Amino acid sequence: MTGTLEEIWPPSGLVVESGDLRMTALREADVPEVLDVVAGGIHDPSWTPFAFPWTDAPAEEIPANYLRFFASTLARTQGGGASIELVVRRGGRVVGVQAMNGADVAGSRRMETGSWLGLPFQGQGLGTRMRRMMCALAFDGLGLDAVTSSAREDNAASRRVSEKVGYRETGRGQAERRGVPTPEVYFELLPEGFVRGDDPVRITGADQLRRFLGLT
Ligand SMILES: CC(C)(COP(=O)(O)OP(=O)(O)OC[C@H]1O[C@@H](n2cnc3c(N)ncnc32)[C@H](O)[C@@H]1OP(=O)(O)O)[C@@H](O)C(=O)NCCC(=O)NCCS
Repeated sequence: MTGTLEEIWPPSGLVVESGDLRMTALREADVPEVLDVVAGGIHDPSWTPFAFPWTDAPAEEIPANYLRFFASTLARTQGGGASIELVVRRGGRVVGVQAMNGADVAGSRRMETGSWLGLPFQGQGLGTRMRRMMCALAFDGLGLDAVTSSAREDNAASRRVSEKVGYRETGRGQAERRGVPTPEVYFELLPEGFVRGDDPVRITGADQLRRFLGLT
């Protein structure tokens, strides 16, 4: 045998835990459980928070599209790029996904965070906690120099989470949403600005991932 899945593909071995939240690398076997949360809704359908409006697809197309998206995260983790998708569970139940992406991770030493929660799980502080957990992975686990984020100007919850975690606004621009240029706000967090939560964060698998991504 050439090795375990975690040895072959170190991103799959990531576990980040804090309080009653546990974030693990998205695996094919997680997809049905994640899709149950997607089916319950992530946002008001009259609006989309996402630059790529994947939740706008007809309901019957979303499951296979999501599996294709999972496969694309593996394909994007090469040649300096990395796409880390962590399934977030509270008390064992999936509540959402916390992601971090970068095109030239070793060269730039920075990655961009993104996340979503099912509607029943929003507005309870979970988005702030899971973003803090990802930032702990970024700085303590991977030794990144900066983490970035962007949000629609009218996405008050996402912007507020960035502010609470210590990101500072770096600029404004426009991104296409549903084919319409929409005002965007860009944020950056440096290690010294990171506002941590009260619960300690435990990280498993970061050293292996750090080597895998060339972040020595
Ligand atoms: C963005 C998201 C992950 C945030 O997670 P959350 O658990 O809802 O956020 P939290 O409860 O941790 O904190 C939200 C903060 O925003 C504030 N907030 C939420 N909605 C708000 C609104 N409409 N106006 C002003 N503030 C708002 C909350 O009051 C809270 O701040 P506070 O602690 O100072 O009171 C979640 O709302 C979500 O999944 N939204 C849909 C998908 C999405 O927008 N993803 C991000 C794409 S950029």
